[in-house]
Amino acid sequence: MLRHLARKLRASGPVTVAEYMREALTNPGQGYYTRRGGVGESGDFITSPEISQVFGELIGIWYISEWMAMGKPSTLQLVELGPGRGTLTEDVLRVFKQLSSVLSKCDVSVHLVEVSPKLSEIQAVTLTGGKVQPSPEDESAYMKGISKTGIPIFWYRDIQDVPAGYSFYLAHEFFDALPIHKFQRTEKGWREVLVDIDPQVPDQLRFVLSPSRTPATQNFIQPEETRDHVEVCPEAGVIVQRLASRIEKDGGAALVADYGHDGTKTDTFRGFRNHQLHDVLSAPGTADLTADVDFSYLRKMAQGKTATLGPIKQREFLKNMGIDLRLQVLLQNSGDTATREQLLRSYDMLMNPEKMGDCFNFFALLPHHRLVHPDKKDKPESKSPLPPVAGFNELLLK
Ligand SMILES: C[S@@+](CC[C@H](N)C(=O)[O-])C[C@H]1O[C@@H](n2cnc3c(N)ncnc32)[C@H](O)[C@@H]1O
Repeated sequence: MLRHLARKLRASGPVTVAEYMREALTNPGQGYYTRRGGVGESGDFITSPEISQVFGELIGIWYISEWMAMGKPSTLQLVELGPGRGTLTEDVLRVFKQLSSVLSKCDVSVHLVEVSPKLSEIQAVTLTGGKVQPSPEDESAYMKGISKTGIPIFWYRDIQDVPAGYSFYLAHEFFDALPIHKFQRTEKGWREVLVDIDPQVPDQLRFVLSPSRTPATQNFIQPEETRDHVEVCPEAGVIVQRLASRIEKDGGAALVADYGHDGTKTDTFRGFRNHQLHDVLSAPGTADLTADVDFSYLRKMAQGKTATLGPIKQREFLKNMGIDLRLQVLLQNSGDTATREQLLRSYDMLMNPEKMGDCFNFFALLPHHRLVHPDKKDKPESKSPLPPVAGFNELLLK
């Protein structure tokens, strides 16, 4: 990967951080996700669904509660973006199975958007036991199978390939893996941060600033910006626009969980390898690269097509979803000390403000009508509260 990038940089000059990140993560031959995958204890980073099954179970309950609040539509597509090892969808499907009497009249299907061949193989094993078939070229899905619980599953490379219909979208640690542009305020105005080859050291990369404004500086920096360093992820913006349009047209909801901020942070670009921080420019393709999600940007890109809720902290969301009660039940049902200790350790990892409790956030897109009390349609002056959305304690309707 480094040799490939060095050749490219020598031939055509510096590239944007977004171009660098895209190559390093999803280059079809050498990209980190394409070849390595990296999710899980034996990989480079651990995610909440890999820490505890309770996480995915509570998300499964969130979807069922929203499906009921929206009048129990007769079909439901669960669409996960960037499903990693498939663990989160597996946990959601287990809840769907346990509540099959509630869902009995609903036609459920699963749609996974995944670019990594290596991870889609792992997902197929997790979810179907490996019983999948490649799809013929003329179908939009590249692979299909049946889950261990009997639900049809389809794999796609792009959200646009997922069929239209009432859908619940799920994006856990997905948006942080999408390529960002980075900008630096200078005395001469905004400049884009680029990646170049270091002329002093062979095959070493370095950051440089664009000598003048780039198309991205013109398009992505707002005149009222007060920070000196800004990261923007246009690909995340495009995907949120698509999700919002689909939800507006066909109904459903999107739940996004990720580390992030509300338009306040500056330089958050970092790498992980073997669970340690890793220099983002060193050995590209061998480490996960990531940047905090700017939820204020996602909210803006929904363009008012849907209502947005959050971001709220993971520990608040999970508490509102009843994680404490679930932990008590699991502790009561587990006979051995080792399992009980493991349950308490994983609870602490998810909920402790110093660990994942505060830095991870939940954010949702919902149809506007979901947040309008039925009374208000006829009596706009009605003071009755909005119908609650599970997980979101305070409704931050923006
Ligand atoms: C950080 S991992 C998160 C995995 C999983 N959601 C979890 O939390 O354990 C990012 C996931 O997004 C996938 N991914 C990255 N870029 C993508 C893209 N442009 N389109 C679809 N999937 C992508 C990766 O292959 C991987 O499955």
